[in-house]
Amino acid sequence: MSSLLLMVLLLISSLDWVAAGYPFSRIYAPAFQQNCKTHHPFNHHYHQHQRKRKSFLHVQPPHQGVFQRVSSTSLQLQSSHKKDTPDKNNNHNLPSQQQDSLKIPRHVALICDGNSRWAKKRGLPSSAGHVAGANQLVNILDALKESGVEYATLFAFSTENWKRPQSEIDDLMRIMEESSHKFYHKAMREHVQVQILGDLQDARIPASLRRALRKLQDDTAVKTAQSTQRPPFTVCFAINYGGRQDIVNASLKLAQAIANGTIAPDQVDEALFASMLCTRDIPDPDLVIRTSGECRLSNYLLWNIAYAELYFCNDIYWPDFDQKSWNRALQWYSQRTRKFGGRQQQQQSAQEERPPRANGATASPVEKTK
Ligand SMILES: *[C@@H]1O[C@H](CO)[C@@H](O)[C@H](O)[C@H]1NC(C)=O
Ligand SMILES: *[C@@H]1O[C@H](CO)[C@@H](O)[C@H](O)[C@H]1NC(C)=O
Repeated sequence: MSSLLLMVLLLISSLDWVAAGYPFSRIYAPAFQQNCKTHHPFNHHYHQHQRKRKSFLHVQPPHQGVFQRVSSTSLQLQSSHKKDTPDKNNNHNLPSQQQDSLKIPRHVALICDGNSRWAKKRGLPSSAGHVAGANQLVNILDALKESGVEYATLFAFSTENWKRPQSEIDDLMRIMEESSHKFYHKAMREHVQVQILGDLQDARIPASLRRALRKLQDDTAVKTAQSTQRPPFTVCFAINYGGRQDIVNASLKLAQAIANGTIAPDQVDEALFASMLCTRDIPDPDLVIRTSGECRLSNYLLWNIAYAELYFCNDIYWPDFDQKSWNRALQWYSQRTRKFGGRQQQQQSAQEERPPRANGATASPVEKTK
């Protein structure tokens, strides 16, 4: 006990050196890394975290941000020797045993429902809910990225959303524009690639929003192409998007290509068809999350989610979907058996396989809050 106290004190005193520019990292980093390893050796998140730490510790000179990060993780390490203490060293807040068995979906599709209801419950205008939802989205995107997810797709505005009251549509357009300006700097700084899905040519979309989205897409594509961070984290915004419209669009392109002789009818297969969708550059979602009670897909990525796991959290409005909710979704996803239509292990899914579920149906989970 007293030796622990001594270590903590030692650490605290050494932190002053960091603040003074002393190369703290050279002394403590190896010890930290070893300690960490014994706690969660196979944790994907841990490895990511480590990679980042390395770049902090050995490339960048210490400054205030580094100081805080190093000090908090190091101090936590001192107190995390007890078995089964929740692991605060990374963002999952899950016991490390559970972390080891987590499977990370490569692509997560989000339906961020319930902003208006969230606002109404608080006696606020629905625009306040959309603002809160947009802010929460940025947090959750960070959480996804930290967990090792490579693609996140958000259903920002569907082709059916035009049926909403004009005042709400105007609010949504304005909030999307403000959010894209705000997100622009973050995405550029953190090498996030943004991709827009859907029909941006629609005249009902304000020209300024269209410009902001195009800029977001084009500039982040250039930036991530220059980045050495592989794979980049990709965020797709589905705006004025409809799954059926995309399928019809693809069919039209296919028909034209057959008519003009560039494609023969017997060449048509799933892969060719998928290459004509606006989602052609992104892998199929592995996990779909929808908040606030609706258990339907609402014309979202219809072609692409053929084998996705569907997670409906019934009692959470999107602005309340936080890190803990994401952890729960991840744990749920990790327990799914992905069979891709087959009975036994298949090659494509071999690494994802687990013993078959007792119940063959795709169960809708009910997320319990608290
Ligand atoms: C359908 O095709 C048009 C023309 O190529 C394109 O502008 C639009 O974005 C597409 N719509 C969807 C939903 O992909
Ligand atoms: C044929 O049609 C496809 C689909 O519309 C188009 O992409 C392609 O450029 C056309 N090719 C020629 C030679 O007209």
